[in-house]
Amino acid sequence: SFDVRIASTGDVFHIPEDKSVVQVLAENGIEIPTSCEQGICGTCITRVLSGSIDHRDFILSDEEKRRNDQFTPCCSRAACQMIELDL
Ligand code: FES
Repeated sequence: SFDVRIASTGDVFHIPEDKSVVQVLAENGIEIPTSCEQGICGTCITRVLSGSIDHRDFILSDEEKRRNDQFTPCCSRAACQMIELDL
């Protein structure tokens, strides 16, 4: 599990193993548009300001994944304790 910080508000949300970032944020009133929810369509791509990502999508290129400045919150997760999102 890991934490997500929302840059605009400073709010921090805990993401348990059995939920996606999209799910937890939606439960807290932050709606990220989604479509496939499987890392295929790119609809949910969100800018990452800090932290490292465990990319689990099939749409970003290896180069884009290495840049670590965007991710697919429907399926990808953090590879560290906290990531900060440009939301
Ligand atoms: Fe399709 Fe996230 S909703 S990649």
